[in-house]
Amino acid sequence: MTMSVDIEYASQLDEQDPLAHFRERFVIADPDLIYLDGNSLGRLPRDTVDLAEDVLHGQWGARLIRSWNEGWFEAPERVGAKIARLIGAQADEVIVADSTSVNLFKLVVAALRAQSGRSRILTDDLNFPSDLYILQGAIDLLDKQHQLEIIPSVDGIHGPVAELQAALDDQVALVILSHTVFKSGYIYDMSAITAAAHAVGALVLWDLSHSVGSVPVDLHAAQADMAIGCTYKYLNGGPGAPAFLSIRRDLQSSLNNPINGWMGQKNLFNFDLVYQPAAGLRSFLTGTAPIISLSLIESGVDLILEAGLDNLRTKSELQSEYLVGLWRTLLRPLGFTLNSPDNVRLRGSHVSLGHAEGLRIDLMLLNDMNVLPDFRAPDNIRLGIAPLYTTFRDIHTAVIRLRRIVVEKLYEKYSTDAPIVT
Ligand SMILES: Cc1ncc(COP(=O)(O)O)c(C=O)c1O
Repeated sequence: MTMSVDIEYASQLDEQDPLAHFRERFVIADPDLIYLDGNSLGRLPRDTVDLAEDVLHGQWGARLIRSWNEGWFEAPERVGAKIARLIGAQADEVIVADSTSVNLFKLVVAALRAQSGRSRILTDDLNFPSDLYILQGAIDLLDKQHQLEIIPSVDGIHGPVAELQAALDDQVALVILSHTVFKSGYIYDMSAITAAAHAVGALVLWDLSHSVGSVPVDLHAAQADMAIGCTYKYLNGGPGAPAFLSIRRDLQSSLNNPINGWMGQKNLFNFDLVYQPAAGLRSFLTGTAPIISLSLIESGVDLILEAGLDNLRTKSELQSEYLVGLWRTLLRPLGFTLNSPDNVRLRGSHVSLGHAEGLRIDLMLLNDMNVLPDFRAPDNIRLGIAPLYTTFRDIHTAVIRLRRIVVEKLYEKYSTDAPIVT
């Protein structure tokens, strides 16, 4: 089939899509809404609604405190082991706890302490800014003995791979990168960066927030040291659901959680007065887990496992190529730029389009066109593809509406100092 810009072609692609039936597994409150923000907040799986009923009424309501011994206590490891299958880690190398940010902080401080004598930390300017804030805070905490070096991307789209590699030396303690970067969707070659860092004795920490559940990751094959990631994007875990962290098994005993707490204590119910870390990743727990939101992650992860990550990636590549194809024909002539890698292999599951009127176009989409993408300053309209529920018709309709907004100058309805949108 040759690519066509007709809606019939999108319908044909939907009919041929072997994963199309997964859309029915989600709550779709407004069938006309074009939801392209699964890269920020995934949709609500129907199984999660049933699970919530059980967690609330069955576990909390009926079983009360007994539920701690009936699955709550092991939930961080149980859900972690399932996430491990999506990122190429062993079951005991992933645990669910806290937020992505807090997990980053714990791992960074632990890694910097383990790498004493080395003072450089490398990252890039495509990393999620909050990750940089966490690093700055960790440096302050450790008495400003480290320098954070933010290597710039040459084009704002692709990671500065050669520059990062050139910056490596035996003073580098830690390299921290987003595997799939939040703005452009560029995907780093995890194995290549990790190998280069290891060659000088540096550790590498990967932020998998925009990869997990959408881009196949193999931490084991890459010999990656540490990873973090969130569960509310492609894993459909729910707003603010706890995050995960991963540490390679043979590194676990040399890293110490800087936030000691009773959930990470060996034999916690002995209530000893002196902290002794539990074995393995449990030592990276601190306080009581938010059991309700933690429990509700599991059904979202199960859906991804059921669909198969490779199948999801195949569909995501097809859909993002389709979107880029439509951009070329219908949007590029109107001033839209592709702010994501051209090469689909280097692109995660969202496509960023830039336009001089990006913000006003985005406001028009959100408020008047029933299309929900998100916006990242200065001009990026991020169109997220979540292959479990995004249809080819969704993509087609969004592009046609984008075109209309510009051709008919509908965005002029909004002022240039419009409020910030997410
Ligand atoms: C790549 C990346 N890292 C870190 C975070 C921060 O996550 P949290 O706010 O859950 O700590 C986000 C949030 O969207 C993110 O996209």
